[in-house]
Amino acid sequence: MTRITRRQFHTSMLGAAAAATLPTFAGANSAQVLRAREGSARLAPSEYPETRIWGYGGSVPGPVLRARQGERMVQRLRNDLPQASSVHWHGIRIKNEMDGVAGMTQSAVAPGEEFLYEFVLPDAGTYWYHPHNRTYEQMARGLYGALIVHEGLDAPEVDMDEVLLIDDWRLTDQAQIAEGFGDMHDWAHAGRIGNWITVNGNSGWSREVPQYSRMRLRLVNTANAQIFALETRGLEGWIVALDGMPLEAPQPLERLTLAPAQRADLIVDVMADEGEGAFLANIERDGGFAIAAFPVVGVKRQARLPAPGALPPNPVPSLGPLETATRSKLQMEGGAMGGMRSAIMGGRTMDIRDMVAEGKVWAFNGIADMGENPLLEAALGETVRIAMINDTAWPHGMHLHGHHFRQIRADGTVGPLRDTTLIDRGETVEIAFVADNPGDWLLHCHMLEHSAGGMMTWLRVG
Ligand code: C2O
Ligand code: CU
Repeated sequence: MTRITRRQFHTSMLGAAAAATLPTFAGANSAQVLRAREGSARLAPSEYPETRIWGYGGSVPGPVLRARQGERMVQRLRNDLPQASSVHWHGIRIKNEMDGVAGMTQSAVAPGEEFLYEFVLPDAGTYWYHPHNRTYEQMARGLYGALIVHEGLDAPEVDMDEVLLIDDWRLTDQAQIAEGFGDMHDWAHAGRIGNWITVNGNSGWSREVPQYSRMRLRLVNTANAQIFALETRGLEGWIVALDGMPLEAPQPLERLTLAPAQRADLIVDVMADEGEGAFLANIERDGGFAIAAFPVVGVKRQARLPAPGALPPNPVPSLGPLETATRSKLQMEGGAMGGMRSAIMGGRTMDIRDMVAEGKVWAFNGIADMGENPLLEAALGETVRIAMINDTAWPHGMHLHGHHFRQIRADGTVGPLRDTTLIDRGETVEIAFVADNPGDWLLHCHMLEHSAGGMMTWLRVG
């Protein structure tokens, strides 16, 4: 068993019990202003200065946006950053013109300008929002927030519902965000991996809980490139949803791998005794480190509650027959130790040295960056399968916009609905989905240095 240390908890372990706040709902049609601007945050302990960040509302994370399933969300982005930006509503099956992809579904919103986002929320679950312009820099500076869509009826009964956005930061010894966003070494390797982990912008996130209380924890990996390997101590429970979508049956919680952009909804019971620690920990090479603490104070009830049922399913269409589905292949190439010699960029073949000079080190099917033609065109309602072959020396977390997909397993059965899937080096993952959302949609690696470095393609639906 991995030893959990409290490395990051030299300060503020106790006394940080946040006041319980009731969720506030955006409510139908009330336009809210989401101001992207500079701000500062206490990412590091108090002996360090505050960190200058970019954030929605000037804070990191940005506000938790909440609504009920089926409601309309209206958010006006006001860009007060020194750089053009946009907002992508990650995992929402949204209409195409609201998807927030700068240069594709809209133009980037210049400094001082605004853009009105207005869309319906078809699915309940844990989603998030982030920029989609120079994403590798803007997210590393702190621009992201959670979007929680509450179940209308049949929400599971829990004592607490917590959103935990897990991020890693690359900080200088003055606790400032290290520049060097375009570092080609990062781009060709694992991406920009940080040296400091926060939960909700706090390196000592802590919440007092009574024994035998039940919590819903909504985990979101908001890191540029870091894959988290999470375990709990003193908390036992189930995974009930992945990437917003309910599992057919709750799955007992063991180690949870969370790739960039992935989410997991957990229902956990506090099993530790009063005075004992309960933790969420990230398992690293040299041990497990608590990243969120749940000091146990008092007792909620006499014993543990019975196991929860599944969350109500979202209205995602079922897959058509897989044998006759339209098939496509995506070969991932490039990166350090990948042996790629050339690729097509902007319609012409370039050798790897010229590519690197232009900041491109990866390719899909021999094409670096967005090709002129889509990876595939699907008729509306068609079932599509894409085999993604990782022929590189690195893992990649592939994200499809506008749809959720299922992995086709070797035995022909399919996995849970997801919008982002991790593909290990040398591994092939085949996904299938119903192309029911018209428009041009991105398919890219969510390790942001990889997508900026060429791992980006698109599909046309309808
Ligand atoms: Cu979360 Cu194309 O992104
Ligand atoms: Cu990648």
